Amino acid sequence: MAQRVRKAVLPVAGLGTRFLPATKVIPKEMIPVVDKPVVQYAVEEARAAGIEEFIFVSAEGKDAIAAHFSAQAVLEASLEAKNKMAELKLVRDASLPSGHMKVVIQGEPLGLGHAVWCAKDLVGREPFAVILPDDMVLSQTACMKQLIDAHAKVGGHVVAVEDVPRDQTSRYGILDVASDDGRLAAARGLVEKPQPEKAPSTLAIIGRYVLDHSVFDELDKHTRGAGNEIQLTDALNKTISRTPFHGLRFEGKRYDCGTRVGFIEANVAFALANPELAPRLKPLLARLMNS
Ligand code: UTP
Repeated sequence: MAQRVRKAVLPVAGLGTRFLPATKVIPKEMIPVVDKPVVQYAVEEARAAGIEEFIFVSAEGKDAIAAHFSAQAVLEASLEAKNKMAELKLVRDASLPSGHMKVVIQGEPLGLGHAVWCAKDLVGREPFAVILPDDMVLSQTACMKQLIDAHAKVGGHVVAVEDVPRDQTSRYGILDVASDDGRLAAARGLVEKPQPEKAPSTLAIIGRYVLDHSVFDELDKHTRGAGNEIQLTDALNKTISRTPFHGLRFEGKRYDCGTRVGFIEANVAFALANPELAPRLKPLLARLMNS
């Protein structure tokens, strides 16, 4: 039986250049999808999976993220005085219990692998989750819970994967598959951002991971990879001979909020999944499509 996963690392130190000028002052992760900042969906998904401790790998100037998950005494007192109890609940539900949130600053955006490495001391020697808030997943069961359940059975590294069109392999970490039962695929290797003709499969890693702490032994070496960045995929690849690696085809649909079109698609999909908004939105969308 694998050790329980209690901690999640949320890398939120990126510059968000694809969303400029929106991200000139506001962190990318604080831009709302429907009615909540993108990063709040990630935290809610992790809490639904039993995660208790949240480690944000952040950057200078992105204090709004930690503030969003902290108690806001003035706002809460003012809502209480006005008897706005529903709104007060929304504010309080977005807070993490004190002591359950840690923030570590990544001095320079040297890549996702480096961002995860920055959390090494806070994680310690136990399995941990990594959630990239940019990838949003609509599912019956929280995507992270699906990964943690699979990890409890197979241990090692378990990451969320999906089949992507071959012409898109250069955007992802891709599995070199050793065996595949249709749901769990065991990998013998990983390749970061391969060109389509060099990709060993079309099974791509999306932004949800449960990782064994052995990955830190490789990240310690600070080896640069694609784009001259310290790549998480490369570090994981180097551990495969000693740590089993499985990709889980999760139940649910992923939206890539790191691109403008994906972000708009996520807004529409999450609004259509909201029973209060969907009946009003559907005729409006139909009208737009027909105009
Ligand atoms: P992206 O590749 O989407 O980069 O990072 P970005 O800076 O956020 O956005 P663009 O490309 O400039 O528009 C994927 C995830 O990894 C984090 C980002 O915050 C995002 O959650 N990240 C990336 C870091 O925390 N540090 C890094 O050095 C790189």
